Amino acid sequence: MSLKSFGRTIKTLGKGVVVGIPEAAAERDPMELFREWFDAARESGIFLPESMSLATATPDGVPSVRMVLLKTVDERGFVFYTNYESRKAVEMEANPPVALCFHWRVLERQIRIEGRAERVSQEESERYFATRARGSRIGAWASKQSEALPNRSELEERFRHYHDDFSGGDVPLPPFWGGYLVRPTRIEFWQGKADRLHERLVFDRAGDSWKAQRLYP
Ligand SMILES: Cc1cc2nc3c(=O)[nH]c(=O)nc-3n(C[C@H](O)[C@H](O)[C@H](O)COP(=O)(O)O)c2cc1C
Repeated sequence: MSLKSFGRTIKTLGKGVVVGIPEAAAERDPMELFREWFDAARESGIFLPESMSLATATPDGVPSVRMVLLKTVDERGFVFYTNYESRKAVEMEANPPVALCFHWRVLERQIRIEGRAERVSQEESERYFATRARGSRIGAWASKQSEALPNRSELEERFRHYHDDFSGGDVPLPPFWGGYLVRPTRIEFWQGKADRLHERLVFDRAGDSWKAQRLYP
């Protein structure tokens, strides 16, 4: 927890910042509202406000969930990066519907997103990959993400191998690594309130627009 976030926790007696969702919010574009809440989370000093859980499922409905980092949010939706041969990727390729969830404790806020995952273009992945630290880029080459690892030294050996292979030159985007875009079909904003009378505002995609409704907490 950052100092700012700690200060906020103290100031609000661990209750976070209790604000409501104004009636007018139902008229808003949920992607704009997302940005507003995300900016507030970033400004609050929360560590890794961009971390979100990603739920995927096999075609026969067996779910799995893990954390990933939101790297881009724009009018298309939400982009994160991973290994295209990982368990999550195998599940998304076979079954594109996914769910994301953010929780910003100190703001007493949660955002749930449902949508479909698709790969971003190779150019977009290349642009992002180039911004990563060299060690992370080499690490992406070294990791056969989600495969069984017999011992730690095998991973370290693979890292050394690629480190030497690229010896000082460019570390290109691995062909098995890149981004997924989640195009949202449902976005729910949850604001904690006293006496468990929390506020929930959910937007469902309806053609080119969104239909908003409030839900009981
Ligand atoms: C805070 C946090 C952020 C993470 N971000 C990512 C990410 O952006 N991409 C990724 O592939 N794994 C990320 N991971 C690791 C994943 O949670 C997971 O262990 C890994 O992707 C393998 O998942 P899978 O076997 O279900 O594919 C992150 C883990 C944590 C705790």
